[in-house]
Amino acid sequence: MSYSHILFDVDAEGIARITVNRPDKLNALNRETMSELADAFTRAQSDAAVRGVVLTGAGETAFVAGADINELAVLSPIEAQALSQRGQAILRALECMPKPSVAAVNGFALGGGLELAMACTIRIASENAKLGQPEVKLGIVPGYGGTQRLPRLVGRGRALEMLLSGDPIDAAEALRIGLVNAVVPQPELLERSRAWLRKAMANGPRAVALTMEAVDAGLNAGIEEGLRVEAMAFGLSASTEDRREGTRAFLEKRKPAFAGR
Ligand code: COA
Repeated sequence: MSYSHILFDVDAEGIARITVNRPDKLNALNRETMSELADAFTRAQSDAAVRGVVLTGAGETAFVAGADINELAVLSPIEAQALSQRGQAILRALECMPKPSVAAVNGFALGGGLELAMACTIRIASENAKLGQPEVKLGIVPGYGGTQRLPRLVGRGRALEMLLSGDPIDAAEALRIGLVNAVVPQPELLERSRAWLRKAMANGPRAVALTMEAVDAGLNAGIEEGLRVEAMAFGLSASTEDRREGTRAFLEKRKPAFAGR
């Protein structure tokens, strides 16, 4: 698939950078942009050369200012439900990718933009970022997972405060409530995002993927199921060459060289 609304490149370290590229519309997510993102997430997942993902927006004003309001304004109820389900599935594919992802939040992350950022493994914001779920101001409900991921990240009270007021918060407040993991100056945003990915990518790739799966399983199904998945993941990790290499490297006082097997 060739892209008109996003950019996709993979650097020599195996970091895929996916950039939503409609800066004149503050990178709003129209249908085609969502289809291209779906394709890019599949590509990042299936390409063995890709070991991590940075997701960002073009320009210095917006990460993504939401779903495209021109499209939302004319949807029938059935179309709106289908749009929501499709968007949910696309973001879930990003969230469940067995490779770490960082949302480099370089400005407005509103509505579908914040929902996209929340589907990444972590979020790093520039100092000018503004994050919010303004849907209720438009008389609609978040449709790409905002009602589910926001309370999981910041707790019920803070989430409802944001969801029901529709007011955005600034980067400092987002850091304070745990919605973003770090706030950095805009010029450092991409490099700081890559730096975190490099740390995760230096670890056993299977162990990283299984850890993400266990966290997700427990948060979604409860502690009993989460512990069951954790024990299975722990058992599975014991079968890998990476476990042998990681433990041996520690005992031999050297850095491990993981093969991802
Ligand atoms: N959907 C479609 N177009 C959008 C958009 C969206 N979510 N967000 C911004 N745009 C467009 C604007 O319509 C404008 O297009 P135009 O130049 O053709 O008129 C362009 O992007 C620039 O936006 P503008 O509103 O002029 O910029 P601003 O700096 O004055 O305000 C925001 C920035 C983010 C505060 C404002 O654009 C906004 O509130 N956007 C909608 C946010 C939202 O409700 N998102 C959730 C949707 S569910």
